[in-house]
Amino acid sequence: MCGIMGYAGPRAAAPLLLEGLRRLEYRGYDSAGIAVTNGEIHVRKAEGKIDRLAALLESDPIEGSIGIGHTRWATHGAPSDLNAHPHTDPSGEFVVVHNGIIENYLSLRERLETRGHEFTSETDTEILAHLVAEEYDGDLVAAVRRAVGRAEGAYALVVMTMHEPGKIVAVRRISPLVVGLGDGETFLASDIPAVLEHTRDFLIVEDGELVIVTKDGASIEAIDGGPIDREVLHIEWDAEQAEKGGFDHFMLKEIHEQPVVVTETLAGRLDEDGHAWLEDVEFDDYFASSLDHIWITACGTAYHAGLVGKEIFQRVLRIPTSVEYAHEMRYADPLVRPGSLTVAISQSGETADTLAAARLAKTRGSRLLALTNVVGSTLSRDADDILYTRAGPEIAVASTKAYLAMLIAEYLLALRIGRARGIVDEALAARVAHGLNLLPEHVDAALGQDASVIAAAERIVDADDIYFIGRGLDHAVAMEGSLKLKEVSYLHSEAMPAGELKHGTLALVTAGTPVITVITQGAVYDKTISAVQEVKARGGDVIAVAYEDDREIAKHADMVLRIPRADDLLGPVTAAVPLQLLAYHVARLRGHDIDQPRNLAKSVTVE
Ligand code: M6R
Repeated sequence: MCGIMGYAGPRAAAPLLLEGLRRLEYRGYDSAGIAVTNGEIHVRKAEGKIDRLAALLESDPIEGSIGIGHTRWATHGAPSDLNAHPHTDPSGEFVVVHNGIIENYLSLRERLETRGHEFTSETDTEILAHLVAEEYDGDLVAAVRRAVGRAEGAYALVVMTMHEPGKIVAVRRISPLVVGLGDGETFLASDIPAVLEHTRDFLIVEDGELVIVTKDGASIEAIDGGPIDREVLHIEWDAEQAEKGGFDHFMLKEIHEQPVVVTETLAGRLDEDGHAWLEDVEFDDYFASSLDHIWITACGTAYHAGLVGKEIFQRVLRIPTSVEYAHEMRYADPLVRPGSLTVAISQSGETADTLAAARLAKTRGSRLLALTNVVGSTLSRDADDILYTRAGPEIAVASTKAYLAMLIAEYLLALRIGRARGIVDEALAARVAHGLNLLPEHVDAALGQDASVIAAAERIVDADDIYFIGRGLDHAVAMEGSLKLKEVSYLHSEAMPAGELKHGTLALVTAGTPVITVITQGAVYDKTISAVQEVKARGGDVIAVAYEDDREIAKHADMVLRIPRADDLLGPVTAAVPLQLLAYHVARLRGHDIDQPRNLAKSVTVE
């Protein structure tokens, strides 16, 4: 996720901006840059680590005591010097940095191009500099207001102009922004740790607000006008806590970021009628209508996302779908043929096995779609089509927010293909679109059930073996819940379809054996209840994940973790959240290194 930094005060801005950007490095980035005004606007930026930017500044310094800085995590356009922020308008009089996504940037860009605007980067951000310049008539605040009025999406935008030296104007729509109040100097940042060394007094800029920053302080207004009185927040956290946004671990922070991740992964890609626009998915309707097989290949959590994809593609699209572990597929001589689509799923886009399986599918004539979180990753470069999740960098080894974003991307892909094939009619498309748009709220509500999850964690923390069951989509989610628990708690657990229990594993269920049951699928509800009864008859301890209005389950299970009622097709997205929290809390109770579990690496780039 991009990092933003700003400074207005008496000191030299460049070193302060650089230092603030270094403190935001933990957010992940692929390029960095700063702009300082001193009569004119001067920009220095470079792909790669902040050290490259520092070297650039050393050989070509800029003086001035007001400036903005940025670390970029690519979303539109690969990491490069040109795509790095800040971006200016063609005259170089206005400069912007930006975090987030401008959903309607293509149409804005086209309109600007018809008026003669030329662009030097592939970013959505550059158009904002053009828009502000076009709207400027002597009042930067008014120009920014009008410019963002034309932009849709979730973002934090920071703007300076040489015409109004001493002033930085910023707006927030969803993406975070804070103001640090120093003594005769003011800071702006996307996150508190960037400036914690200079001040502990902050103003939090909320959604839909605009802030005007000078060295003497900051004033907040509603984007549509009207002053806002914001109380100063005094922060007691230390630097390490601040990086984690006040959470004890990155894993927990990332779990809590999921409502925003869902919003961002959907942003600009779905209308209320269920039409999906996937910017880097380039196959045409003919291909979508004629493809006869979908292969999904991935490892670990991404494979579990693939299990959900398989269910959706078969259920909604009625296309035969195979999901294969990449490390198996690459050596299995798979029957991949031309006319098929291979969806390779990988958060990092660098997992060696996934790359190998994806390349194999391509050499056999399949069209390759990369579903990945990292712009410019090897997988994305190998693919014919790319569907980026927009989870931002995931730091905890245990994947959580990237998984949820993968599921969202799969629903979007199903809508894209299904509408082209005519198998997803308007009613179904609108139903799915409605359900997807409700998800951020649902995920947020599931996060609010933390107290029940902690009680469940206390219940299973000393178990020797734990089983996860479910049917269909619930089984896919159970697989991920089990992996999450293993990774961070080091407890043995195993997931299986609920109907499989009685074919062997039931022998291991005795008094007190925890059996986590995911039960959101109406069509097989009674069947899952039967499995629960089999467990209860052996004295097992059933913890269910079920809809909030499901009264029946309480008659059978020992404990129920509730999630908001949703369309059954989408229920699994929210059901994953309590299972992620459960894994986290068990690991915490057991005192483990949650963000860096033993023996595991974030990205497995060797076979
Ligand atoms: O980067 P990828 O999605 O390709 O990584 C695949 C797996 O290594 C990864 O999902 C792993 O299972 C996670 N640590 C699970 O939390």
